[in-house]
Amino acid sequence: MHETASEEALHPAPADAIEEVVFESLTIDSRVAELAAEISRDYRGKDLLLVGVLKGAYIFLCDLVRQLTPPVSFDFLSISHFGAGRSSPQPVEITCDLSEPVGGRHLLIVEDIVDTGLSLHYLVGILQERQPASLAICTLLDRPQLRLADIPIRYVGFDVDESFLVGYGLDFRDRYRDLPYIATLKM
Ligand code: IMP
Ligand code: MG
Repeated sequence: MHETASEEALHPAPADAIEEVVFESLTIDSRVAELAAEISRDYRGKDLLLVGVLKGAYIFLCDLVRQLTPPVSFDFLSISHFGAGRSSPQPVEITCDLSEPVGGRHLLIVEDIVDTGLSLHYLVGILQERQPASLAICTLLDRPQLRLADIPIRYVGFDVDESFLVGYGLDFRDRYRDLPYIATLKM
């Protein structure tokens, strides 16, 4: 089916929209393998539950979980976005919750990118109230220079600068998540 001209303007095809590939697919694969090895070592013998934050972390979690060696399960939740942007953050809400109680389990929150850290700050607070055995954070991308909330991140794939990124789960208006690489957009 052909898109109309206005749809094309709003959502240009990757070939027209991508400015620069920042992390090639193979680079991501090998970093995910390193993270998986580190997490497998740290959680040896423990019952690990990965908590993926939808939708952005979905692809990262899928690749990560297939390389982990401890007994592992995974679940997902979604949270609302900040209504008022970075300058006036609103507490986020869980819009779709985990499917099971997490009390007494070893939780590893899996994120695509930590920017201000406010979403995770809020999420960690909620999940801590459920009394897990432990709670840690793994993010593929970290943008520490824009951090507003001080949250401890145990596993980071790559540090990135302030450029807006898409691909490998990251979106612009819900597009480009399917790209196998991470790239900047022509803005
Ligand atoms: P924060 O850490 O609460 O500011 O928000 C992090 C969330 O914002 C991520 O989980 C993404 O959903 C989104 N986000 C932040 N930076 C980017 C980006 O460069 N591309 C796509 N989504 C982003
Ligand atoms: Mg996200």
